[in-house]
Amino acid sequence: MRIVVVGANGLVGGAVVRAGLAAGLDILGIGRADCDVTRDREAVLRAYRPDAVIFCAAATEVDAAGPATRAVNVEAPATWSRHVETWFLSSNFVFDGWGPHAPEATPRPCNAYAAQKAEAEALVRAAGGHVVRVGWVHGPGGKTFASTLPGRLQRGDTVRAISDVLVQPTRADDVARALLALPRGVTHLAGSADTTWYGYASALAARLGGQVEPVRLAEFHLGPRPRDARLAPATLPPWFECLDERVPR
Ligand SMILES: NC(=O)c1ccc[n+]([C@@H]2O[C@H](COP(=O)([O-])OP(=O)(O)OC[C@H]3O[C@@H](n4cnc5c(N)ncnc54)[C@H](OP(=O)(O)O)[C@@H]3O)[C@@H](O)[C@H]2O)c1
Repeated sequence: MRIVVVGANGLVGGAVVRAGLAAGLDILGIGRADCDVTRDREAVLRAYRPDAVIFCAAATEVDAAGPATRAVNVEAPATWSRHVETWFLSSNFVFDGWGPHAPEATPRPCNAYAAQKAEAEALVRAAGGHVVRVGWVHGPGGKTFASTLPGRLQRGDTVRAISDVLVQPTRADDVARALLALPRGVTHLAGSADTTWYGYASALAARLGGQVEPVRLAEFHLGPRPRDARLAPATLPPWFECLDERVPR
């Protein structure tokens, strides 16, 4: 079986390609320069003839979501899934209210990014594709808070971290291995221990130095965010078991 990963230069996509190659799979990762998912579908499917596409491409900046991000976040996964069996990466942010949320729970998005993810999920499922929701993925690469945190702490920065939102940090490599089983339907991939961003950052600061200041979500002046978008079941290894890997060598 040939698998193509689009958005392969991102945090999750990169981990999937590395894990697939390590497992000896017929897997090809394509970054945005060689495959803009909003326009290069036909050429890529014709050239590589994949049996499965793992769709990791996305505009992931939550507060930047709007009409300009619809093409990549909604229209592209919907179109790809009509032409090839697609595994679409979605987000725990499709849920609001109190978690943990089961895969079959009804999405209740509270911001434009989450609404785009929920809309794309429905379109992908209607086309026979599969949805894999993740929450707070940590690992090397990417540009999230979790990705930049080790470097900031190592520089001795004081990092402000949200202390009143529950998260389930999930190792990118664990997400990748579970994804490569190509789970069907709607699947949740989450680490089995809860913390807050503050809890995670403090544990890392104990290894790397730097200061961590607890801040309430409301003080960050971000757009609307779910307060508890934890996913169930949460079966992947707990975040604290792999924290040493976040210490730069
Ligand atoms: N990381 C998390 O904590 C997390 C949490 C919940 C859900 N997710 C979901 O998991 C998926 C992967 O996220 P990630 O953390 O790996 O994000 P990421 O590191 O930001 O990777 C996304 C990749 O998509 C690429 N991309 C953007 N527009 C594209 C386009 N038009 N054509 C092709 N590629 C394009 C980006 O390229 P550029 O860098 O060049 O823009 C980037 O390499 C996303 O669907 C995200 O919503 C992630």
